[in-house]
Amino acid sequence: MASTIRSAQLPPLHEPHEREEVGRQLQALLVELIDLSLLGKQLHWTVAGALFRPLHLQLDELIDSWRELADTVAERAVAIGFIPDGQSATVAADSPLRPVERGQLEDRVVARELTARLAEVAEHARNHMDRLGELDAASQDVATEVVRALEEQLWMVRSQLA
Ligand SMILES: [Fe+2]
Repeated sequence: MASTIRSAQLPPLHEPHEREEVGRQLQALLVELIDLSLLGKQLHWTVAGALFRPLHLQLDELIDSWRELADTVAERAVAIGFIPDGQSATVAADSPLRPVERGQLEDRVVARELTARLAEVAEHARNHMDRLGELDAASQDVATEVVRALEEQLWMVRSQLA
């Protein structure tokens, strides 16, 4: 598998298993962030009800954030010499997130589905953050940024259900 880059100028992680393991943690995070952004668009299109407008607009803000975070995660992987894979086939095969129902969804259903997926990804991101702390503080910092953003978003989305 050519998932790692060979070069003398790479950051000095202990070859090869640490680089591979840091890469795998970042890859898992990348897949979930991409899938979250795809699910988010589906909900952005299918939400209906009194909260259509705020949810429709809020979802695009969240999607922008998830796409930026995915980019940061993928670029950290490349920086340590690991080739990430954010292609649809890999995301479909590796994402643990359940798809949302294809159909028009009531605003409260959208808020609930969104909260559940966000909570799941935030929890996994926390596990990746902890594991990366044992391997590489700089990569952990990227995961920490993801956790901080997702947990803040989770608080805001959860509050709409209260
Ligand atoms: Fe749109």
